[in-house]
Amino acid sequence: MEKIEVFLGNRSYFINIGSSIFEIENIFFPLKPGDQAMLVTNNIVANMWKSNINYYLNKMEIKVDYVILPDGEVTKNVGSMEYIVSELLKKLHGRDTTLIALGGGVVGDITGFVASIYQRGVRFIQIPTTFLSQVDASIGGKTSINHILGKNMIGSFWQPVSVIVNLDYLSTLPKDQLISGIAEVIKYAIVFDSMFFNWLEENIDFILKLDVKKISYCIKKCCKIKKMIVEQDERENGSRILLNLGHTFGHAIETYLGYGIWLHGEAVAVGIAMSAETSCLLGWLSTFEKNRIINLLHRVGLPTKGPKNMDFSSYFSNFLRDKKVTSGMIRLVLPVSIGKAVIYSNIKDDILISAINRCR
Ligand code: GLY
Repeated sequence: MEKIEVFLGNRSYFINIGSSIFEIENIFFPLKPGDQAMLVTNNIVANMWKSNINYYLNKMEIKVDYVILPDGEVTKNVGSMEYIVSELLKKLHGRDTTLIALGGGVVGDITGFVASIYQRGVRFIQIPTTFLSQVDASIGGKTSINHILGKNMIGSFWQPVSVIVNLDYLSTLPKDQLISGIAEVIKYAIVFDSMFFNWLEENIDFILKLDVKKISYCIKKCCKIKKMIVEQDERENGSRILLNLGHTFGHAIETYLGYGIWLHGEAVAVGIAMSAETSCLLGWLSTFEKNRIINLLHRVGLPTKGPKNMDFSSYFSNFLRDKKVTSGMIRLVLPVSIGKAVIYSNIKDDILISAINRCR
């Protein structure tokens, strides 16, 4: 098992990565025998993995209750939040309880959000089951639910007390979920690490075939980048914004289509393509590097074209609600070369329209 510390003073925690991970003694730290916990998951994950985790929690004498939500982004709403809170109250969970998120980004985001508000804040542990949440969403303490007018518009920064990345979960992961997660991996490489991008170009077929060694390398690499950025800028006032490459376009697509119609990584992939086109139109990113980015997304099977009927006004109305907007100005993350990106706020509408047009 590898342990990566996210160092945030008295809110520091470890990302624990490995196979057969629940066999490791004290893996649910800081939970100890006799502690109370509420595990939140979805119906799909529960069918496959609930009895397995229940076995290990019982073995450690944790008094655990369960909330099982319907699968999908559409669940990440006020109603589900209220439901989890009601279950916590019904089952008499006090301030010393611990919420455990067992699932992908949806379960992690909503569980973390409830943990941040229940009785003014309780502990929570992230146990990500999708590739996307293992490389990105479970780390760094962003928690949220969606509003009909915008994705992740209600939320908080609330760090988990531990992240447990069980590589065995990838064996039951549907292919589209794997592919969706790779979009975030490509994002890390474009923004921070050209060597990693080269490595992805060479190894992408192994990752698609779920080669455990390569996948494990990939997860550790992304977790190390994410750890570094979260330590530098926990509340996203500076460098953490770079982790949003592709997300301004991507969130606009997800909100426009209705949550859950496209997977998050699919929308982000189109957003990455649109950001690359924008940068290319501004004369910053070379056509050669833009094509390398688009080609890698294609090889993975990710989309690079937005929804056919989505008009410019639907993009722009969503851009203006993006969390990166300051003083009414849209801020975009743009790759300037593979391995380097900038945050830029002065983009003319006609450039954005041309970039969106190139991805139709
Ligand atoms: N997923 C981007 C971030 O955590 O900042």
